[in-house]
Amino acid sequence: MPKSEVKTSLLDNMIGVGDSVLLEPLTEDTFLENLKNRFDHSEIYTYIGSVVISVNPYRHLPIYTPEKVEEYRNRNFYELSPHIYALADEAYRSLRDQDKDQCILITGESGAGKTEASKLVMSYVAAVCGKGAEVNQVKEQLLQSNPVLEAFGNAKTMRNDNSSRFGKYMDIEFDFKGDPLGGVISNYLLEKSRVVKQPRGERNFHIFYQLLSGGSEDLLKQLKLEREFNQYNYLGLDSAKVNGVDDAANFRTVKNAMQIVGFMDDEVELVLEVVAAVLKLGNIEFKPESRVNGLDESRIQDKNELKEICELLGQDQAVLERAFSFRTVEAKQEKVSTTLNVAQAYYARDALAKNLYNRLFTWLVNRINESIKAQSKVRKKVMGVLDIYGFEIFENSNNSFEQFIINYCNEKLQQIFIELTLKEEQEEYIKEGIEWTHIEYFNNAIICELIENNTNGILAMLDEECLRPGTVTDETFLEKLNQVCAVHERFESRMSKSSRFLNDTTLPHNCFRIQHYAGKVMYHVEGFVDKNNDLLYRDLSQAMWKTNHVLVKSLFPEGNPVKMSLKRPPTAGSQFKASVATLMKNLQTKNPNYIRCIKPNDQKAPHIFAEALVRHQVRYLGLMENVRVRRAGYAFKQPYESCLERYKMLCSQTWPHWRQGSRDGVKVLLTELQIPPEEFSYGRSKIFIRNPRTLFELEDLRKRRLEDLATLIQKIYRGWKCRTNFLLMKKSQIIISAWTKRHFQRKKYLQLKNVTLIIQSYIRGWKARKLLRELKHQKRCEESATTIAAYWRGFQARRELKRLKEEARRKHAVAVIWAYWLGLKVRREYRKFFRANAGRKIYEFTIQRIMQKYFLEMKKKLPSMSPTEKTWPPRPYFFLDDTHTELKRIFHLWRCKKYRDQFTEQKKAIFEEKLEASELFKDKKALYTNSVQQPFQGDYLEISKNPKYQKLNGAVEEKIVLADVVNKINRANGKVAPRIFLLTQSNFILADQKSGQIKSTIPVMDITSVSVSKQTDGLFAVHLKEGSTAAAKGDFLFTSDRLIEIITKLYRTIFFKTNQKINVEINNEFLVQFNQDKVCVKFIQGAQKNGNLPTCKRKNNRLLEVTVP
Ligand SMILES: Nc1ncnc2c1ncn2[C@@H]1O[C@H](COP(=O)(O)OP(=O)(O)OP(=O)(O)O)[C@@H](O)[C@H]1O
Ligand SMILES: [Mg+2]
Repeated sequence: MPKSEVKTSLLDNMIGVGDSVLLEPLTEDTFLENLKNRFDHSEIYTYIGSVVISVNPYRHLPIYTPEKVEEYRNRNFYELSPHIYALADEAYRSLRDQDKDQCILITGESGAGKTEASKLVMSYVAAVCGKGAEVNQVKEQLLQSNPVLEAFGNAKTMRNDNSSRFGKYMDIEFDFKGDPLGGVISNYLLEKSRVVKQPRGERNFHIFYQLLSGGSEDLLKQLKLEREFNQYNYLGLDSAKVNGVDDAANFRTVKNAMQIVGFMDDEVELVLEVVAAVLKLGNIEFKPESRVNGLDESRIQDKNELKEICELLGQDQAVLERAFSFRTVEAKQEKVSTTLNVAQAYYARDALAKNLYNRLFTWLVNRINESIKAQSKVRKKVMGVLDIYGFEIFENSNNSFEQFIINYCNEKLQQIFIELTLKEEQEEYIKEGIEWTHIEYFNNAIICELIENNTNGILAMLDEECLRPGTVTDETFLEKLNQVCAVHERFESRMSKSSRFLNDTTLPHNCFRIQHYAGKVMYHVEGFVDKNNDLLYRDLSQAMWKTNHVLVKSLFPEGNPVKMSLKRPPTAGSQFKASVATLMKNLQTKNPNYIRCIKPNDQKAPHIFAEALVRHQVRYLGLMENVRVRRAGYAFKQPYESCLERYKMLCSQTWPHWRQGSRDGVKVLLTELQIPPEEFSYGRSKIFIRNPRTLFELEDLRKRRLEDLATLIQKIYRGWKCRTNFLLMKKSQIIISAWTKRHFQRKKYLQLKNVTLIIQSYIRGWKARKLLRELKHQKRCEESATTIAAYWRGFQARRELKRLKEEARRKHAVAVIWAYWLGLKVRREYRKFFRANAGRKIYEFTIQRIMQKYFLEMKKKLPSMSPTEKTWPPRPYFFLDDTHTELKRIFHLWRCKKYRDQFTEQKKAIFEEKLEASELFKDKKALYTNSVQQPFQGDYLEISKNPKYQKLNGAVEEKIVLADVVNKINRANGKVAPRIFLLTQSNFILADQKSGQIKSTIPVMDITSVSVSKQTDGLFAVHLKEGSTAAAKGDFLFTSDRLIEIITKLYRTIFFKTNQKINVEINNEFLVQFNQDKVCVKFIQGAQKNGNLPTCKRKNNRLLEVTVP
């Protein structure tokens, strides 16, 4: 079944009218009739516009179920039948959605149901706001603070079994989502006089009865309490039990609630100890005792109770006893101690009890605040719930200071109601230029003024009286009032100046009367001064500070001598006035929601609707005026800007932007929506809507439109999202395909590269192996040559060794024979001196020692390893001469061998050549010495590299042994011509120096010998084999500076080729074969013409003369 079908609309099936604004005709009677009619049908809530009237049913109604909560949740205020939940929902949603701080003002007289209403509002908000473990804990703590505060601050009175005896304002804090974060409770003036005295038929605060009924035996024993109420003077006996109230069960609830709120076990214990101490204080009694100087003095009758109190509070009994017996007054640094008489002692006792309890209550509120305070520092939205004691009138002029204060507070609340609903609203219509007929109402500002005016208000008078020096009594205070307020129209007194009321016998002498908005109240002045002063003797506060009880000690900080001040604390009246002023200021900053509670009868009974009583309340609450203002006025008003902002989406012209003035915008909007013109009025800055229905219609349209807009936004968003998604996918696809292509191409390329590399590596490998094979072959050839050479040398060395050994053996034999011979000689010579053998042994020994020494020293003195080193240490003994020389030779050989071992093959060949040269020419030809320093390079012309000799190089097939330019001597005339002299392994080639043209090629085998002079000249003759082809023209004559090298190389080449050593003739005269002639070449010494070159002259057929330097 759809929800809405179950719900009763404001108009459907209505009993009477749900909203009094709709009453027709509107009179006080019809209004009351309507209330009664509804009350009789269990409809206890009725609206006046947005104000909820609640009539106390005094019975349980099934209208606060979770289903009801759901029913009213998120529904418009006027949509369903009137209910306190509708107001709570409206306030909560307005707080959550429009960010407006709210306050719920609950007014009505005592017993009208304010506290119940406040709890209903709180429980509704708790049910509909956010959920979750943390939030639930906060909610639970907020809700559970109620039973604790009610136990300590509520009491049964004549009018209400659970009357709030303190004012309470609770700020519930929410975050932006509407989840509760915590709260702050402010309390106002607890009626503490109730602690020590209760009017007939009333009780003390609930907690005392709860503790005695519900406390376990152990707990009571620990607190030194008896279970019976009648054991305690402070507990009113005649109404100790309240019907339908289970104190014991309530005690458990309170303890449980304290635990939930966050009280520690030891804290609960401390609190109960204080409660017990207060209760026991009432049992301390005093008896008079006369002193010699005639002064009355009091004594405690039974010290047992005092002892127990001191034990409970950890107090020194003597200190407390003294505080009850003396009073110390400090004035101008003087301390005067006076004794207390019995009355004063009782006064002191009660003052202590009241103060202790009152401070305990304030401590409880602070402690609860500490637990429920919001943890986070985020900006908070606030919903304040005000539940203050209701207007109170006692009969028989029993109204005292407390009632005066309570009623003053209610006056202020009525004032704020008037200000915000009646006065401001009417003023606003006028200000906005809306046609308006003023509706009369009673403004209670004048009463507030009478009480709170700073110069002549009652509270100011009372303060003045309290502070005045001299004797001050309640009577002097009344006198003062009579003087100052006599002319005030709302003040009545028998003794007033004008004596207006002298004849009013109903007004006793010690009373004054105030015509409150809710009726006349007669106040008895007794106790006004005292209660306003709220004095606690300093001795008592000091005694309390001295206890070991942590809680009590903290409650009396002024008892600390260090912090003692002589300044008077502010009076109770002025404190209350100030806190009420702050409260009013606070309420004015918030959006008010009113619940006006009405008490239907004085019997606290269900189903009874005492018309007179209700009529009285309707009158003083100004409800009729309220209805009239509402009826004449408009149900709803809103500044143009916010109205346009809220509804602009309903009109195509104003949506989404309206560029002109917002007033015009609203006009356009309402015209397009075709709302009947009588339904609204245009004010100066606000639009006024007459009927709530019109507003709901607008709201409905808005709701539907918002849904459409949401769909539109969704549509566009989805489209955008899809497109974004598509584009993203497209982009991704391109990227992926690019990457894939790249990947495959790369793979292909890498494959190709790999293949190429493999092929390359195979080819390279094949080439390298080929090369390696060649190199290995070459190396093997070289190695075999070396091996052969090594064998050859080894053979030579062994032969040499054998020879040396033979020689050494011989030398040794000689030495031995010699030694024997010497020995023989010596022995023969010295035989006569020595015994046989001794001489020989000494000799051997000496020789041995000498030899040893010689070798050891030799080892140290060995010359360097250089083969050219000539030095050799001198011989120490003559007989070692041969050995010494032999040693030198061996050492030299060994050193040469070492030196040779370092040689490379190439170097070895060079040295072999040099050696060959030395064998050939040393000491034979003078030129030799010059050649020793010159290295034999062989190829001086670098035939293979020089492009000039390319052709020549091509013609030569073998390895070139020597290539140089030599001068060829003409056989006929002795003239010289340069020729390239090329020696290969088998030929000796002569070529033109310039063109490289080969002139003649002679196989080396055809050379028989070479001839040179002994001189320093470079002339040499090459003799050829007779009959060979080369020898046709005869032998060759050449000159060259490198004669030694050329001949050496020629010699060696021929040796290698033929294995025969040619003859090298060195002589200053030799024969050469020229054609058929044998010519003698003769060297003569003479002056040199052209440098070092020899000059040749053919003297005749038989002689060629060569002049050499
Ligand atoms: N809505 C309700 N449903 C049932 N009973 C109610 C309701 N409201 C009030 N009552 C009854 O009326 C009694 C008095 O109500 P409540 O304590 O709220 O009065 P009050 O206005 O706070 O009085 P006071 O000013 O003395 O504190 C409650 O204890 C309860 O029994
Ligand atoms: Mg109450």
